[in-house]
Amino acid sequence: MDETRPAIPSPLVGDGLAVPCVDGQQRPYLNLDSAASANALPAVARRVQEFLPWYSSVHRGAGYKSRLATNAYEEARLAALRFAGRPADGDDIAVIVRNTTEAVNHLAYRLPLAPDDVVVTTVVEHHAMLLPWGRRCQRRFVECGSDGTFSTDDVVAALEASPRPKLLAITGASNVTGWLPPLDAILAAAHERGIPVMVDAAQLAPHRPLPPAADYIAWSGHKMYAPFGAGILIGPRATFAEGDPFLAGGGAVDLVDLDEVAWTDPPEREEAGSPNVIGAVALDTAFAEFDRIGWKAIIEHDDALVSSLRSGLAAISGVRLLGPKPPPGGVSHEEVTLPLATFTLDGLHHALVAARLSAEYGIGVRHGCFCAHPYLLRLLDLSPEEVADYRAAVLRHDRREMPGAVRASAGLSTSTDDIDRFLAAVAEIAGGRPAPVAYVQDPSTGDFWPEGTAPGWTADDRSLGASCARG
Ligand code: ALA
Repeated sequence: MDETRPAIPSPLVGDGLAVPCVDGQQRPYLNLDSAASANALPAVARRVQEFLPWYSSVHRGAGYKSRLATNAYEEARLAALRFAGRPADGDDIAVIVRNTTEAVNHLAYRLPLAPDDVVVTTVVEHHAMLLPWGRRCQRRFVECGSDGTFSTDDVVAALEASPRPKLLAITGASNVTGWLPPLDAILAAAHERGIPVMVDAAQLAPHRPLPPAADYIAWSGHKMYAPFGAGILIGPRATFAEGDPFLAGGGAVDLVDLDEVAWTDPPEREEAGSPNVIGAVALDTAFAEFDRIGWKAIIEHDDALVSSLRSGLAAISGVRLLGPKPPPGGVSHEEVTLPLATFTLDGLHHALVAARLSAEYGIGVRHGCFCAHPYLLRLLDLSPEEVADYRAAVLRHDRREMPGAVRASAGLSTSTDDIDRFLAAVAEIAGGRPAPVAYVQDPSTGDFWPEGTAPGWTADDRSLGASCARG
């Protein structure tokens, strides 16, 4: 293959691995869960492999390898700024963190928020964007409609309510519906009102260019094909120049005595402890791969997949697609959603559908509430009584009736044949194809497990089961 030309679908490490199914057959694993976490790009894995012999301490050693590792780490930081559309010598800094969740917690801690201050956020957010602000100040929520979307005007109304908010914290793309809020208009509206904006780009970063106008932006390497534990928080240097850093420790200081500390300058001030240089070089390589492939090719790939995925699901009797509706008779979803679809199947528990896709078809999806409980309750349109019932059960550690849905999410290596394979499996299950084995639900996790002795699916293998409904 000519490595200078964009390759889409781009193979990922692990694609096509055979996995056992309950009929005793092995099938090539179809990963439709990259919105949760994505496999490494081969170039990322190669770079990590090549770097490992040169691994050494960053900002802590005089040896040749330490200098080299420090250089690689700092190159990754610059590449993160470029990826986010920021100049290397501008006012913004990139802090290398673990992931988006850590980045939002980090920022929530670092912003000078008082308990009565208000951060405007939305009910569409996942838990990492909902919870950290609530620990520091008051939250004002932008509501969504039954299709899981809101308008720029809805955001403006929340921004203009009193007291004046200190920040708008908003997702760039929903991890549940794939919906892309009108970010440019929202950023402009907030800035016209002098309100800074933090964008959660966890889902956006692998699919669309990042908005350079965002004051703060965070995303994760593990969702953009660099699953080595690094993520990025970008924001103005001034935010991090005063006050205590989020983490206290070595590397973040200029001077320490037993009763004194002088913090060093950002970004190092924000990165106490030995930095994750492997994660950083992995991310750096992912940025380079995205440059090589190009946004045009990525977006065209996404658009082709989202059309077949959402239209195909909508056409299956018994499927209820959550989020923005497919236009009548049309297939043009691409303007509004990423290549993912979240749905329920009439009369079938979401956990059972996900278990059957895995155990019978070798297809990996996510189910449950996707770490976005408030959004799911709205999308599923649950009554207060239903919510009260399941809440009481979950608090008794009984997750059998935890509401939820099934999500299929595509990535760089997903092909239209993959989508066809998935749709055929959903159509069979929706059409009443009997399960070849009985499935038993675990009350404490809510997950289903097939009974039987097929390799990979015996009772002993059950410890491999994950609790997907927890979120
Ligand atoms: N990582 C979470 C997801 O799967 C939020 O969407």
